[in-house]
Amino acid sequence: MNPSDEIHQRRTFAIISHPDAGKTTITEKLLLYGNQIRMAGTVKGKKSGVHATSDWMEMEKERGISVTTSVMQFPYRDATVNLLDTPGHADFSEDTYRTLTAVDSALMVIDAAKGVEERTVKLMEVCRLRDTPILTFINKLDRDVRDPIEVLDEIEDVLKIECAPVTWPIGMGKSFKGVYNLLTDTAVLYQSGQGHTIQERREVKGLDNPELDQAVGADYAQELRDTLELVQGASHEFDLQRFLDGKLSPVFFGTALGNFGVDHMLDGLVEWAPPPLPRDGGERQVAATEDKMTGFVFKIQANMDPRHRDRIAFMRICSGKYKKGIKLKQCRTGKDLRLADALTFLAGERDNVEEAYAGDIIGLHNHGTIQIGDTFTEGEDLRFTGIPHFAPELFQRVVLNDPLKSKQLHKGLKQLAEEGATQVFFPLRNNDVILGAVGTLQFDVVAARLKGEYGVDCRYEPISVSTARWVEAGSERELEAFERKAHDNLARDGAGHLTYLAPTRVNLQLARERHPDILFRETREI
Ligand code: G4P
Repeated sequence: MNPSDEIHQRRTFAIISHPDAGKTTITEKLLLYGNQIRMAGTVKGKKSGVHATSDWMEMEKERGISVTTSVMQFPYRDATVNLLDTPGHADFSEDTYRTLTAVDSALMVIDAAKGVEERTVKLMEVCRLRDTPILTFINKLDRDVRDPIEVLDEIEDVLKIECAPVTWPIGMGKSFKGVYNLLTDTAVLYQSGQGHTIQERREVKGLDNPELDQAVGADYAQELRDTLELVQGASHEFDLQRFLDGKLSPVFFGTALGNFGVDHMLDGLVEWAPPPLPRDGGERQVAATEDKMTGFVFKIQANMDPRHRDRIAFMRICSGKYKKGIKLKQCRTGKDLRLADALTFLAGERDNVEEAYAGDIIGLHNHGTIQIGDTFTEGEDLRFTGIPHFAPELFQRVVLNDPLKSKQLHKGLKQLAEEGATQVFFPLRNNDVILGAVGTLQFDVVAARLKGEYGVDCRYEPISVSTARWVEAGSERELEAFERKAHDNLARDGAGHLTYLAPTRVNLQLARERHPDILFRETREI
């Protein structure tokens, strides 16, 4: 197949959801549809401690790295789907945000009983930075959940995105009968107890078909007809362009646990979600179908196993094709790099895949020379933009257990910050070292790595910082004036950028009002 056909088939997406909405369960079902596992087992044995036993994951255990949860590639219909994991529970981190800069679309999963939850709001904000097209899956219809109309209203209100129901549920909980597809005028019937296999679709064509009354019961069929009249009058119709612009989300209902509806969403994804989009390369827009390969690094995963010190840098290919042995230029340093052993992630075939295309993710072995945000090309000087740092939400003060290790601490933190493991701030008014993160595990990881890799033993103390903003002004003079006035709340980050550390949200609000000419930014381009 020629490269541009390969590229057009790519669908690279991530799941955004609040913990427990069903991301892991949906991932299992997606892999089931992608024929990567015969029985959808446990992708991560959260409570049961059971681990999936596919060869592919065994291989991962042997290698001591966990890339399984980072990228999954599988075929579906005519498409090649790349699902990028967005760590969500304790492992929630800035990586979760940055992964969203490497996708072309996202699937938002909502627990139908809980509606829009806090983490989803935050992740949606990140998607909005690039107007990423969003599909929505409303999950757990096999439970007694909230009125679907109410849930859609909440999504529209809170997340400020139009909802276009593609399917509509018939009943819920023990009486969940299936869904009706508004675009194809077809009801798809649910069979419970089939969660681990791919079911043959049982369909009834036509809303007014008497067979529907027989299949789901006359009461449910009538209720569906009545509700749909209401829904069609009050909600948005699916509009491909508005979806691609990130303004409207097609909505699907189902139960991931019962394996019902995930395939409807997947059909929508391969049909409507965009193939790899052009990217801003700084100098110019880079089209995915260009011959020459380009890419950027959005995540670096350190190996926590001390016997293997290497790290994997995850690169999103933006254009062209990766071929084993390709020579690439790291634009930040100007150095050439021959990629002979990049990891690719087609499940089960990882060792054999020697090619990857725009939209795919490859893993590069990295001994500390690659940084987040690095652009790679076949020689051209480019710098992909839109891979920012995000303002941390959690802060701790670092205290050295051995005060003589201060130099190593600074060196370690500088490198770990460049790698994206944490953010570091040095207040102007004292010699504190403050770490910032968006997930608590990041602090533990940093402490462990400081000890293992830099011989630095440290602990943390709470500090009263509630949020950080990078500050910018129209001129150097204005910035210097602000630096004098707000001195006690200012710090420099690891890369030397001036940052406002706000003890409270109210304080930040006041600072904004007092200094209307200063920009308080939530993200900083790397
Ligand atoms: P997450 O990755 O988004 O955190 O969610 P996960 O898939 O782990 O699902 C969270 C819980 O919700 C799990 O139950 C899972 O079985 C359940 N769940 C997911 N989808 C559905 C659904 O469609 N219907 C129902 N009824 N439950 C669903 P758990 O008891 O917390 O964990 P486990 O012991 O089942 O692993």
